[in-house]
Amino acid sequence: MNEKKFVRKILCVGAGYVGGPTMTIIANKCPEYQVTVVDINQARIDAWNSDQLPIYEPGLKERVLQARGKNLFFSTEIDKGIQEADIIFVCVHTPTKDFGEGAGKASDLQFIEATARRIKDQSSGKKIVVEKSTMPVRSAEALERILHSGNNSSEFEVLSNPEFLAEGTAIRDMENPDRVLVGSRETPSGIKARDELVKIYEHWIPKERVITSNLWSSELSKLTANAFLAQRISSINSISAICEETQANVREVGNAIGKDTRIGEKFLFAGPGFGGSCFRKDIANLVYLCETYGLKEVAEFWDQVIKMNDYQMDRFFKRILRAMFNSLVGKKIAVLGFAFKPDTSDTRDAPAITICKKLLREQARLGVTDPKALENAKLDLQGVEGSVEFYADPYEAAKNAHALVLITEWEEYKNLDYSRIFKSMEQPAFVFDGRGVLDHQKLFDIGFNVYSVGQPGMEHFSG
Ligand SMILES: NC(=O)c1ccc[n+]([C@@H]2O[C@H](COP(=O)([O-])OP(=O)(O)OC[C@H]3O[C@@H](n4cnc5c(N)ncnc54)[C@H](O)[C@@H]3O)[C@@H](O)[C@H]2O)c1
Repeated sequence: MNEKKFVRKILCVGAGYVGGPTMTIIANKCPEYQVTVVDINQARIDAWNSDQLPIYEPGLKERVLQARGKNLFFSTEIDKGIQEADIIFVCVHTPTKDFGEGAGKASDLQFIEATARRIKDQSSGKKIVVEKSTMPVRSAEALERILHSGNNSSEFEVLSNPEFLAEGTAIRDMENPDRVLVGSRETPSGIKARDELVKIYEHWIPKERVITSNLWSSELSKLTANAFLAQRISSINSISAICEETQANVREVGNAIGKDTRIGEKFLFAGPGFGGSCFRKDIANLVYLCETYGLKEVAEFWDQVIKMNDYQMDRFFKRILRAMFNSLVGKKIAVLGFAFKPDTSDTRDAPAITICKKLLREQARLGVTDPKALENAKLDLQGVEGSVEFYADPYEAAKNAHALVLITEWEEYKNLDYSRIFKSMEQPAFVFDGRGVLDHQKLFDIGFNVYSVGQPGMEHFSG
């Protein structure tokens, strides 16, 4: 590698769902920058350097192959990376604390702090440190204090650049984002650092979509965006409960209200509850922050979004139980989809985990299938009492099953040969469409009893 050909060296600490894809796109779009992604997890780095990338994301592999070894590098040499870097992105995880004060709500910032201390210890000269991980508002202040502590002569400018990509569409979201947000101190050095980062994004993103703000607005915008998105899901899910009681159809309601441009059409699809590594954690963090600042009513308002989500998963499970004559003992249930959404292998906080555990407690036998997330599903259900088999082939998962439970709306599940599946199942056969994406009339005509979230059940011999 010819070291001199790069105008700037970027380092990203954390080679996960955010660090890997975002740095790949920066490397693709900015060939004159050297981009190195480091992690403490050797296996993860080995996977990034192999043909089997550690995460699945449509379009990711081609883009990694385009840049890897040219201006994109994956390594565990964290200290070396820090020493050489001009700009350091912090992309480590910020999970919910599961111990001590604030357990279940507050962010566990130990990985951020360890990274900050390492940056401080290994740095000399001037560096820009970019918070890309999602952090509680005012975290940049803590980062600054750690970085500038002791008798370190280095100068750091801390920026906030929260990531808004959605898994499953990460590449599209990075290449064509609605906006990029860069928060900085409003000092001359803060603005200079901000402009450096903005310059990177302007390689491919129109100027007007790169927004700047103060540090705290930037940090809070990320938590707020996730809170609003999750709130929309909980809102339509709450309406799905009324629909099921009243013969209204949540798809029709969503369609009707979405035509109002003030409401808009997106994120109005009822489901079995939201999942993923961010929504629950970020709202819990927002709730904790509000409580810390004594804003009880605000905390309660946002907490309700999480409660509604738990309620929705439970409601979905109970509808299965009730429809199947209040007994699932020994019945095989085929679970279609385990990832928290389609086009990802990620199962973190997936509703499938909660729903499968509830079904297993009823002593159902599960046949789980998913196009990309089976390995993660095995880990998630490891040690859970009960009978679970994993199938790559959905037709095998459905064989001899009493019910199909669609939890993740993978495109391929819309086009399965349901007549063939029906013939291989126990009778009466049930479909529980957790996403409202299947052709319910067709399934009913084949002979299935069909239940979709937020829609009246379609039952044979009900009268
Ligand atoms: N996943 C998403 O869709 C998404 C979207 C937007 C923002 N975020 C935020 O981005 C951050 C990262 O999320 P993620 O999903 O990529 O997490 P992740 O768990 O996939 O990746 C984090 C990585 O950081 C590494 N790491 C931890 N401590 C380290 C250290 N001290 N030194 C080096 N590496 C270390 C871990 O080994 C891991 O590989 C979180 O704050 C998250 O809230 C995530």
